Amino acid sequence: MFIKRLELINFRNYSNLNIEFINGFNILYGQNAQGKTNILEAINYLSLLKSHRSVKDKELIKWGKGKAYIKGVFQKNLGDFSVEVLISEESRKEAKLNGIKQNKASEVIGNANVVIFSPDDLRLVKEGPEVRRKFIDNELNQIKPKYQYYLSLYNKALFQRNNLLKSNFDKSLIDVYDQQLAEYGSYIVFHRIEFIKKLSIICRLFHRKITDGKEELVIRYKGDVYEEDINKIKEKLYLSYKNSIEEDLKKGYTSKGPQRDDLQIFLNGVDAKTFASQGQQRTAAISLKLSEIEIIKGERGEYPILLLDDVMSELDILRQKHLLDSLKGLQIILTITGIDDLGRLDFKNKKIFEVVDGRVQIKEL
Ligand SMILES: Nc1ncnc2c1ncn2[C@@H]1O[C@H](COP(=O)(O)OP(=O)(O)O)[C@@H](O)[C@H]1O
Ligand SMILES: [Mg+2]
Repeated sequence: MFIKRLELINFRNYSNLNIEFINGFNILYGQNAQGKTNILEAINYLSLLKSHRSVKDKELIKWGKGKAYIKGVFQKNLGDFSVEVLISEESRKEAKLNGIKQNKASEVIGNANVVIFSPDDLRLVKEGPEVRRKFIDNELNQIKPKYQYYLSLYNKALFQRNNLLKSNFDKSLIDVYDQQLAEYGSYIVFHRIEFIKKLSIICRLFHRKITDGKEELVIRYKGDVYEEDINKIKEKLYLSYKNSIEEDLKKGYTSKGPQRDDLQIFLNGVDAKTFASQGQQRTAAISLKLSEIEIIKGERGEYPILLLDDVMSELDILRQKHLLDSLKGLQIILTITGIDDLGRLDFKNKKIFEVVDGRVQIKEL
């Protein structure tokens, strides 16, 4: 799949932008703070209806304006489709698929498949569990349209349970939330386990290839409940909420459940988070991201669009080469700041855009 055209009105620092991409390498080149990441953010927004920078929608509206508009025209094997979003100060956002307004976000989410790779992702191995959960959740949001819906229901119930724990509560109410959490949580845990199983097979192979067979990458789901069957997960989750109530009351929050899940990553048998070098951790992160792309391809039958935000400058030349060699046949939109990086990106099918202060110009070399 690829994006043919992007239109922005009053989005971030763009008043009005119309840009045509090629189905190959698209390079957004420019100094810092000119609007390169904003373009990637807009494309990613069309896929997930939320920003990857975890900001509120309103922050996306150009300062001093009341509304922001994003439109993308995409091409799949089956033909073209468009996604449009109108974000407004006052009302809920409106999303259209092929020009028709959709009342459910899940009808729009995941039509455009996008993988975004930013410097944060290079720290996937090293950082805390929330970064790894976000990695898993973003992927599942795209391939399971209902996932985001269940996740938001779960988070709502969790918030209410936590409030109840902190207040003078009526004990019978807690059970209502335990049941809800077990219901929504079982959907989340079931799909996370299934996804990590697939991921572990693919990323092991990628990693072997990237490290010339020197490193064995193993990943494992780490959660309070591990079961194959969704009903079993539900039962066990329910029990774990029930059994931790005394502890939760003391702590003032819910101590068990998928909000604490993690992904354990091992290199040659040892925990990569603690024992691997920075270079090894980065290579493992690349293997995980490349596997994410393959899983989307497997689920959707087409490669997603790959957005690479300032990733090149953080990798040494060998790792840049490994990354780019593995990325044949995808549309790539990448940002760079240094002209030196541009020289290194020696591709036949490329288009270069220069980004200066919310304006974009095609750059001929
Ligand atoms: N809501 C907004 N309205 C107007 N300008 C914004 C808004 N949000 C961010 N900006 C501006 O966008 C620029 C940053 O854009 P970004 O795409 O992150 O830069 P970079 O080219 O370094 O990737 C900054 O100049 C910032 O002030
Ligand atoms: Mg940037």
